[in-house]
Amino acid sequence: MRRGLCVQFLVALVLVAARASAQPANSCLTCHATQQDARIASPAALFSQQDVHRERGFACADCHGGNPAATAKAQAHDAAKGYKGKPTGPQIIATCARCHSDAELMRRFAPKQRVDQATEYATSVHGKRLASGDTNVATCVSCHGAHGIRLVSDAKSPVFPTNVATTCANCHADAKRMAGYKLPDGSPLPTHQLADYQTSVHYNALTKGNDLSAPTCNDCHGNHGAVPPGVGAIANVCGSCHAVFAEKFATSVHKQIFDKGCVECHSNHAVQKPSDAMLGVTGKGICQPCHTAEDKGDKGAAAAETMRTEFEQLKAAIDTSHALIARVKNAGIEVSDQELALREAATKLTLAHTEMHAFEPTLVAPIIADGTKIAAAVDVAGQKGVSELEFRRRGLAWSLAAIVLVVVGLALKVRQIDQRRQKSDV
Ligand code: HEC
Ligand code: HEC
Ligand code: HEC
Ligand code: HEC
Ligand code: HEC
Ligand code: HEC
Ligand code: HEC
Ligand code: HEC
Ligand code: HEC
Repeated sequence: MRRGLCVQFLVALVLVAARASAQPANSCLTCHATQQDARIASPAALFSQQDVHRERGFACADCHGGNPAATAKAQAHDAAKGYKGKPTGPQIIATCARCHSDAELMRRFAPKQRVDQATEYATSVHGKRLASGDTNVATCVSCHGAHGIRLVSDAKSPVFPTNVATTCANCHADAKRMAGYKLPDGSPLPTHQLADYQTSVHYNALTKGNDLSAPTCNDCHGNHGAVPPGVGAIANVCGSCHAVFAEKFATSVHKQIFDKGCVECHSNHAVQKPSDAMLGVTGKGICQPCHTAEDKGDKGAAAAETMRTEFEQLKAAIDTSHALIARVKNAGIEVSDQELALREAATKLTLAHTEMHAFEPTLVAPIIADGTKIAAAVDVAGQKGVSELEFRRRGLAWSLAAIVLVVVGLALKVRQIDQRRQKSDV
């Protein structure tokens, strides 16, 4: 048993030693690590600490070329040995794509890895601008780094969901860098995407609710391509997650009119928690200014009013029944059936909020009616519980009174007997 372990240990040692000696000499790393200039030394440090490419057995020369066996700089940096120096602009894309667009090579390391990053990138605004000579845009290294590259599933990777927004904002929140770029309408390209996004329900769900399914920049804009796969146009992106809302909205009159779909009402980056107050033409209502209360014939304004009133009424009915049931439950009466029913009524309200996206009040009304019926039935049961409670209280009071009467009667009787006995003793 012991000898078995010993042999295993020796075999492991030999394997480790063999691997170490199999690693080719890397003069690039050795020399660069000792340089004073941080620009020349830091790639070596980053690469040695943590890098997915180093872990897969690659080295400096796999990206930069040159002769890693030569110890003198001139020989190591030999153009005849393929030394390319520091890649810039489109050279960076070519450097990474040499492997990442090579299906055969990638299959050996990661069989399920996509090999379309560079072709997708070419379709993005970044890629198109780079092709036209603008080196201000993002290349592979702006998002992944060049040295110290991590797996995208590594929480410290700059493209891990919780880090993406700051990675994009390195440029997109930098007004100086983004100066001069324009939207199609000629206005300056805004730089407040991150600030807006940080106020959103999505950012909140991702960072505070730890919900990694909530979108950050790349979920809506794509990792590499112009838009995420299957979305077609950026305006349709919301439906890739909120499918049922998109389905209802597709049947709405607004579908034909709105260029930006959901974004017209919810915005793109600063999506807020929706409320009934949004449904209207006054105050926080978002149906204005397209619909107005002044125009008595405006069916949009009337629809907003009708649906909001229905939502508020059902919500109030659920709240009232809730309070009633809680009171009865506190007194020890069994209410689990009623609690279940109230949850169903709340589901109806959620369903109605979804159905509202067809913007057709006659479709919402029956769902609200179902919910109201359930809440009303619970209310009846609750009232019955309250009466039972009062009946029990009254019953308790009566029996208490009866007991007191009996006790008093008994006491009087005892006293009478005592007095009689004293008299007869005398
Ligand atoms: C003996 C030291 C030495 C060796 C070996 C060496 N380098 Fe360098 N390297 C330098 C120095 C010093 C610089 C700074 C620029 C210069 O003096 O040419 C540099 C610069 C670079 C640059 C940046 C060039 C630029 O334009 O900014 C790259 C990339 C590079 N080396 C890659 C490599 C690779 C790959 C290898 C191995 C094949 C290697 N180096 C081997 C010393 C070395
Ligand atoms: C996965 C490919 C890859 C590997 C491996 C790699 N580099 Fe680089 N390196 C690049 C790219 C791309 C750039 C340009 C980065 C940029 O523009 O920010 C670069 C830039 C550099 C620079 C210039 C830095 C600067 O800020 O100007 C030096 C020096 C350098 N690399 C040295 C090395 C050394 C030494 C190694 C090995 C320890 C190495 N590289 C490994 C891709 C790589
Ligand atoms: C604008 C930022 C950005 C640019 C530019 C970019 N990437 Fe990515 N990359 C990402 C994001 C975001 C992910 C996805 C992370 C995730 O899945 O959570 C990703 C994922 C990857 C992956 C993992 C496999 C995959 O496709 O999901 C590889 C490999 C990769 N990128 C390589 C590249 C290469 C090569 C380039 C240059 C052609 C490049 N990236 C350009 C942001 C970028
Ligand atoms: C010599 C081939 C080669 C070159 C050049 C190369 N890569 Fe890689 N890269 C790989 C391999 C192999 C993997 C490992 C894939 C795996 O195991 O998931 C990898 C992994 C990655 C990953 C992690 C993917 C994941 O699954 O999480 C990223 C990101 C990445 N590379 C980006 C780059 C960038 C950016 C460049 C250019 C600066 C580059 N690579 C250049 C071969 C290469
Ligand atoms: C290295 C800087 C840099 C980084 C990092 C960067 N971008 Fe960009 N991006 C630019 C520049 C410059 C433009 C060009 C602006 C233009 O043409 O309107 C641009 C354009 C865009 C556009 C098109 C805007 C339009 O004109 O409608 C989108 C969308 C975009 N970037 C999203 C992202 C996302 C998402 C990320 C992160 C995953 C990101 N960018 C990372 C620099 C960057
Ligand atoms: C929930 C989806 C979503 C998220 C998350 C998102 N975007 Fe957008 N973004 C959009 C839509 C949709 C548009 C287009 C709106 C339009 O056409 O007016 C857009 C437009 C843009 C534009 C063009 C200029 C502008 O502001 O209209 C840039 C640049 C941009 N987004 C960058 C980012 C960055 C950076 C992040 C992360 C901080 C981000 N986006 C997060 C959906 C999203
Ligand atoms: C990558 C998936 C994804 C995309 C794309 C997406 N969302 Fe979301 N959205 C979520 C998740 C996850 C939540 C938080 C969980 C929840 O409340 O349902 C959420 C929450 C919301 C909420 C709040 C719901 C509530 O009841 O509080 C609204 C409104 C919303 N999203 C609208 C949009 C709009 C508009 C877009 C497009 C601009 C969009 N979403 C794009 C996944 C997504
Ligand atoms: C004409 C304006 C308008 C459009 C367009 C619109 N919504 Fe809404 N949305 C609202 C209003 C108003 C509410 C709030 C309803 C309430 O709480 O009474 C809401 C609520 C929501 C909610 C929260 C529902 C809940 O359970 O509380 C989500 C999620 C949502 N919308 C997603 C979307 C998506 C996805 C699209 C596009 C397919 C979209 N919306 C298009 C006006 C709109
Ligand atoms: C950006 C402008 C805009 C916004 C915001 C908007 N609508 Fe509309 N809506 C229109 C237009 C345009 C029509 C078609 C013309 C018409 O019939 O008034 C329309 C039609 C309608 C109709 C059908 C009217 C009919 O004649 O049958 C209803 C219902 C409706 N909207 C409800 C709403 C509600 C509810 C909201 C707010 C949650 C809202 N709309 C927000 C522009 C808008």
